[in-house]
Amino acid sequence: MQHFARFQAAPFPMEMHKVRVIQKLTLLPIKERLAAIVEAGNNTFLLKNRDVFLDMLTDSGTNAMSDRQIAAMSLADDSYAGSETFFRLEASVQDFFGLPFFLPAHQGRACEHILAKVFVKPGNVVPMNFHFTTTRAHIMECGGRVEECFLDEAIRSESDNRFKGNMDLHKLENCIASVGINNVPFVRVELGTNLIGGQPISLSNLEAVSAICRKHQLLLVIDSSLLSDNLYFMKMFDPLCEDLSIKEINHRISACADIIYFSARKLSSARGGGLVMRDKLLFDKMKVLIPLYEGFLTYGGMSVREMEAMAIGLQETLDFDMIAHGPQFIEAFGNKAKEQNIPVITPFGGLGLHVDARAFLEHIPGEQYPAGALAAAIYIVSGARGMERGTISENRNPDGSEHVASMELVRLALPRRVFTLSQITYMVDRLAWLYENRALIGGLTFVDEPTIMRFFIGRLAPIGDWQTRLVDKFIADFGSDAL
Ligand code: F0G
Repeated sequence: MQHFARFQAAPFPMEMHKVRVIQKLTLLPIKERLAAIVEAGNNTFLLKNRDVFLDMLTDSGTNAMSDRQIAAMSLADDSYAGSETFFRLEASVQDFFGLPFFLPAHQGRACEHILAKVFVKPGNVVPMNFHFTTTRAHIMECGGRVEECFLDEAIRSESDNRFKGNMDLHKLENCIASVGINNVPFVRVELGTNLIGGQPISLSNLEAVSAICRKHQLLLVIDSSLLSDNLYFMKMFDPLCEDLSIKEINHRISACADIIYFSARKLSSARGGGLVMRDKLLFDKMKVLIPLYEGFLTYGGMSVREMEAMAIGLQETLDFDMIAHGPQFIEAFGNKAKEQNIPVITPFGGLGLHVDARAFLEHIPGEQYPAGALAAAIYIVSGARGMERGTISENRNPDGSEHVASMELVRLALPRRVFTLSQITYMVDRLAWLYENRALIGGLTFVDEPTIMRFFIGRLAPIGDWQTRLVDKFIADFGSDAL
């Protein structure tokens, strides 16, 4: 038996908090779950939360808040302009990032909207380690495109590289040289890549990217939405960070960037967002769009109560116990899943456990959306909803053919401090049953396909009657009153 020690790979995760408010859950019988996913067009985004047992869709806006955050909300100063709440938040942001200028926005994609509107012109190319859905959509809306400069192993399911999210520096240099610096409005680094399994990037890689940007006088924009997990991975596995405090690591990150933006639905366990920068000229360029699209400069579309929670949540992100919780629970989840031979992305990253749907469902071609089919099947057998992060989350090619994603993942997100090890054990049990019965799972086809970000509200139907056969097998194995 390995013993528990802080700052080491833990043999089991340890909650350094206690639960004082709870929410009752229900687990519908399996036939009702089948009816619910059919009604939701086989899209887990369209399920009603009342029909969901464990909501592992995302950590966005669903992390448990601390007692200090809830208490701070009651101090909110509700005024349209110049509210005290804003100045408390601004001070917290400045202290947290170590940068002087802050613009509030209602969430992460609102920051992306402002950035794209200000900097991206038709024909521009934005190099990045990996795209995020909303980021790319905003860049494309302004006539630009994204070029990804990820490591070759970033899209391999199994690896022992702790920093699979790193930028490939040669690809970045080549990209800049081939499109020309005048066509690059900025370079973007997603600190903790979302779509390839919450894989972090190292401080040394980030500093090298920053040096390249400075050499070419290009702006470096960091998306810090997933910063909390990335700080944990840096502290644990990056030799550069061994002797640094979390705050010192964070300020080294900030020193690399010209602009940092974030979704406060993720970072800080509240609901909102913001842009941070050191240069007054950049601040002035962007600030004019905040009142137009977001709200006045002292609230940016956010509720003052959430802003108070955000101010505290950022400070709490400097606490190792807070940032360790998510990745350590994900690691425990991943280790249990691997023991059952369930194919998962390794190393385990942040945000959630990422199941490799391509390996899970080798018999389903990319055009029949294995990750979408697996997300629907997981809901049917467990009542938990994950999120498809594969071909459905991509756009079709201009000729209308399907663009099969480089990775076909189902993300089972673990919002921080929300789920217990028993619930994780239950999930592994259901995933193991599903894996044994994977031959029963079939593909999906679109019945209603929006042209922009179809994964959010598109509707799909199963190809054939596989969902009924899956339910019949479940009832045959567990009995008709089994949940
Ligand atoms: N950037 C990253 C890396 C994100 O993960 C997200 C959101 C955003 C930007 C946009 O922020 O939602 O506040 O507008 N990710 C959520 C998720 C939606 O579930 O992964 P937002």
